[in-house]
Amino acid sequence: MRAGVLISGRGSNLQALLDACADPAFPARIACVISNRPDAAGLERAGRAGVPAIAIDHRGRSRAEFEREVGTVLARHGVDFVCLAGFMRILTADFVLRWQGRIINIHPSLLPAFKGADAHGQAIAAGVRLSGCTVHYVVPEMDAGPIIAQAAVPVEAGDDAASLAERVLGAEHRLYPMVLRWIAEGRIALRDGRVEISGARTAGGMLVNPIEPT
Ligand code: GAR
Repeated sequence: MRAGVLISGRGSNLQALLDACADPAFPARIACVISNRPDAAGLERAGRAGVPAIAIDHRGRSRAEFEREVGTVLARHGVDFVCLAGFMRILTADFVLRWQGRIINIHPSLLPAFKGADAHGQAIAAGVRLSGCTVHYVVPEMDAGPIIAQAAVPVEAGDDAASLAERVLGAEHRLYPMVLRWIAEGRIALRDGRVEISGARTAGGMLVNPIEPT
C-alpha cells in the first residue's frame, strides 16, 4: 500500500508512521508527504526519511485549486491511501468522497467528544477524567467518520491543554501506525458505516481515573 500523508505542522504523527514504515516487514510505504504550510517541520522529517515532501501553500489558491494540486501530487506518487496527520485544513466533500474508504484521520480526543479545534482545551473545560485519541475514516462532516480504533489516557489533576496534549500524543504515536498496518493487511472492512477488524481482540481490563489513594 502506498500512503500519502497530509500534514500542516510538527509532524510527530508522520514521524511515527515513517518509523513504522522503515521496517521492511511493515506492509505500507509512505509515498509522499504534502503540507499546506511550506514551513511545516514535518516536511523535513519526510526529507530525512528520503520521502518526497511537497508544500502546497493553501494561501493564494482557491480551495478547489488547492485540492486539485493535492490530487495531482498524490496521483504522481501512486498513492492509493491517504492519512491525515495534523492536517488542519477542512477538505471539501468533493475531495473526501473521491477518497471515500481510503482516507483516515487521527483526532486527539475520544470522538464523538470534543470535535474540531482545541480538543484538549475542550476536554479540560469539560472536566473529563479520561481522554485520548481516535483514528477514523474521513467523511465530509468534520471528525464524524466511522471509528476504527481509540486509545484512552487519564486526565491528571493540574493538567492543562498542553500537558494533556503531550500525554495523548504518546498514545497517538502508538495507535496510528497500528491502524495503518491493519488497513494495509486488509483486515479492516467498512460495513454499513461501521468498522469491522478481523483478528483484533478487545482490550482487557479497564482504565479508572482517579483511583483510591494508597
Ligand atoms: C495531533 O495531536 C493530531 O491528533 C492533531 O494535531 C496534532 C498534530 O501533531 N490533529 C487535529 O487536531 C486534527 N483535528 P503532529 O503534527 O505532531 O502529528
